[in-house]
Amino acid sequence: MSVFGDSMNSPQLYTRACSVLVGGVDSPVRAFRAVGGEPLFIARGEGAEILTEDGRRLIDCVASWGAVLLGHGVRALVETVSARAGSGLGFGAPHVLEIALAEQMIAAVPSLERVRFTCSGTEATMTAARLARAATGRDVVVKFAGCYHGHADAFLVAAGSGALTLGQPSSPGIPGKVAELTRVLPYNDASALEAFFAREGERVAAVIVEPVVGNMGVILPEADFLAALTTVPRRHGALLILDEVMTGFRVARGGAQELLDVRADLVTYGKVIGGGLPVGALAGPASLMECLAPNGPVYQAGTLAGNPLAMAAGECVLARADAALYERLAAGTRLLAEGLREALARSRVPGTVQAVPGMWTLFLGSGEPVRSDADLQRVDRGLYARFFHLMLRAGVYLPPSPFEAAFLTDAHTPEVIGRIVDAATRALAALG
Ligand SMILES: Cc1ncc(COP(=O)(O)O)c(C=O)c1O
Repeated sequence: MSVFGDSMNSPQLYTRACSVLVGGVDSPVRAFRAVGGEPLFIARGEGAEILTEDGRRLIDCVASWGAVLLGHGVRALVETVSARAGSGLGFGAPHVLEIALAEQMIAAVPSLERVRFTCSGTEATMTAARLARAATGRDVVVKFAGCYHGHADAFLVAAGSGALTLGQPSSPGIPGKVAELTRVLPYNDASALEAFFAREGERVAAVIVEPVVGNMGVILPEADFLAALTTVPRRHGALLILDEVMTGFRVARGGAQELLDVRADLVTYGKVIGGGLPVGALAGPASLMECLAPNGPVYQAGTLAGNPLAMAAGECVLARADAALYERLAAGTRLLAEGLREALARSRVPGTVQAVPGMWTLFLGSGEPVRSDADLQRVDRGLYARFFHLMLRAGVYLPPSPFEAAFLTDAHTPEVIGRIVDAATRALAALG
């Protein structure tokens, strides 16, 4: 009997799910379409591992798509959330935990003075665009091909993540007039950004970017691109929105802004700041943020925004996310990346490993670095699918798509990382 009170195994649950949930899932990438086969149903998580409804124990490299930072079932977190739940699940009125979490975020990230919590990253980026448009009086938002900023209409243009996995860079249902206001440029191309702003800069409200991309797999920004991001939009009166939904409080306590030494005008958060519960946040300087209602005219609201359980979980996680945790995460990621590179070198499989603390991708198909969405052509989807299933058989749960980042948590000890590397070494040898 599972923790959810069911005795069905994954194939049975999938059949049952498909008759009531679209595709049997609530978010497309979970459906295993990119790797073949059927999704596993997860019964529980313990540390670095998840247990499926079939009784299998797997090392979890998905970590709720990066939302889980400490590992599963951390006692302090479970106790905090349980205690909070006993006092009421939500009131639609202010409570002290939203202040506490906002204070933690502001103390950790120099560019933040005010925070607005939402229930998802999508709401945060959607609000960021609205605020930027209102503050600048301009309409156009610039994004980069393959970056994913949630599923709001304005951002589902040449998007990464599930949209990329399904081969649908954008979606039907988005009016042409809306999509026209989103301009898409290539990632890591400083000259394209310069040239675009020289032509149309006066119409641009904001540039939004994943400072380290996770939604095409991990791609790092190059120095000239970063320099252009922080100078070109501002020179033309446009704002820089760093979408740190994935990187915030994951790649460093101060997120990608700290890791890369850059400063945003507005920052969006999600995932880690909710400790695994549904959350998002928009944050930035008071001068911009105070334009939001009730202090300003830009409307944004949410029945469950700042939910006490999510705030309590986030506060508990951030209180434990100290310098030592980020050092362990960085060291663990280095250990894993080196191990995977050695495994690649020993096999005949072409591939490359790209990583930042807590986030990593093994691109298979070419040894060349992946710098932008154009380079994803070289990624061998079929090879990844075979690798994915070999890893699964060996007890490692990877993202079911070649174009998604994998994650480490603080529970991924060197011993666990060693097991991932061993499994990858055997899988690559079998593929070579
Ligand atoms: C960078 C980035 N922005 C925005 C989002 C959307 O967040 P959510 O899924 O919470 O709506 C995601 C989700 O993966 C993301 O990775």
